[in-house]
Amino acid sequence: TPRVFSGIQPSGGLTLGNYLGALKRFADSQNSGVESIYCMVDMHAITVWQEPEKLKRATRELCAGFIASGVDPEKSVLFNQSQVPEHAQLAWIFNCVARMGWMKRMTQWKDKAGKNAEQASLGLFAYPALMAADILLYHATHVPVGEDQKQHVELTRDIAAKFNHDYGVEFFPITEPVIEGAATRVMSLRDGSKKMSKSDPSDMSRINMTDDADTIAAKIRKARTDPEPLPSEAAGLSDRAEARNLVNIYAALSEQSVDAVMAEVGGKPFSEFKPMLAELAVAKLSPVSSEMARLMEEPAEIDAILNRGSERAREIAAPILAKTYEIVGMVR
Ligand code: TYM
Repeated sequence: TPRVFSGIQPSGGLTLGNYLGALKRFADSQNSGVESIYCMVDMHAITVWQEPEKLKRATRELCAGFIASGVDPEKSVLFNQSQVPEHAQLAWIFNCVARMGWMKRMTQWKDKAGKNAEQASLGLFAYPALMAADILLYHATHVPVGEDQKQHVELTRDIAAKFNHDYGVEFFPITEPVIEGAATRVMSLRDGSKKMSKSDPSDMSRINMTDDADTIAAKIRKARTDPEPLPSEAAGLSDRAEARNLVNIYAALSEQSVDAVMAEVGGKPFSEFKPMLAELAVAKLSPVSSEMARLMEEPAEIDAILNRGSERAREIAAPILAKTYEIVGMVR
C-alpha cells in the first residue's frame, strides 16, 4: 500500500522554496486518499547549532506553516521527530548499514561541512542515515521533496536494499522520490545558479513566508535578470537561469504549466512581468502568512497537534522498529 512521508527542518524561516517545493505540494496531494505523514525534523536541525528557545519557536512556526499552507492535521499525520524515539533507534541500525564512502559522497555534506569537515558535528555526517530512518520507519513508498533532496532519497534506497540483502529479508520498501511540478528547484533571486535558501546571508535572495506585501514586492522588483525581454516560448528560457526561475515561480503559484505561462507573458519586458509576479506572490502568500501568525498566538494548541500526531506516528513506527530488532537479532 502506498504511503507518503516527508520532512522539513525547523531551522528558522520558511522560504518560497520550501512552500513551492514542499508545503504547497503536500497540501495539493492531500485528497489523493494516500496516508501521508509529515515530520518537523528537529533532530536533523541540531546537526548544526540551534539556540534552544529558537528551535522551539521554529518547530511551532513550521507546524503553523504546514497548517496555514492547507495540510489538515486530521487527514495527515503532523508531528515532530524527537517525540517519536523510534527514529533515533532505527537511525543507529542504519548507521551500521550505511558505509562511510556513501556518506562522503553526499553533496549536502560536502557543501555544509566545506573545508572545515574536522569541525563539523558527527551528526551532520550521519544526517542521511537518520533521514533514511525517518522514511523507512513508516515503510513509506513515496517521498515528495525538492530537487536538492533527491540524492538523500537515493541513499535511502541503497540503505533499504543493503539491509534487505544483508539480513536476507524483503522488509524495507525501495522508496520513490517524487519531484514534480514547475518549482522543485527555486533559485536565489540574486543569483540564478544558487538555490533559494534560508542560510543565504542576503535576505534579498529569498522570499520568506513571513515577509509582508511590500517586502515581497521589493524583492521581486530588485530580483536580478538579464536586460532582454522574456522570450516568446519556453525553449528560449533554457540558457537564461534568472528569467526561467521567475517564470517557474509564476507557473507554480498560478498552478499553470510553464508553456501556458509563456503563452500569457512571452515577449513582455521585465518591467511588466515583475509587477504581475509580485501581485500574484502577494495574493498567494499573504493569506498563508497571516494564518501562520494567527496560529502562533496559540502555541499550546500547536503543541497539542504535535503531541497527537506523535502518538499516531508511534502507532505505525513501533511495530516496524520491533520487527527490525527481531530481524537484526536483538534479544527481547
Ligand atoms: P529542508 O528542511 O532543507 O527543506 C524542506 C523541503 O523544502 C524543499 N526545498 C526546496 N524546494 C525547491 N526549491 C528550493 N529552493 C528549496 N529549498 C528547500 C526541500 O527539497 C525539502 O523537500 N533533509 C531534508 C529534511 C528531511 C526529510 C526527511 C525530507 C529529513 N528527513 C525525510 C524527506 C523525507 C531537508 O533538509 O529539507
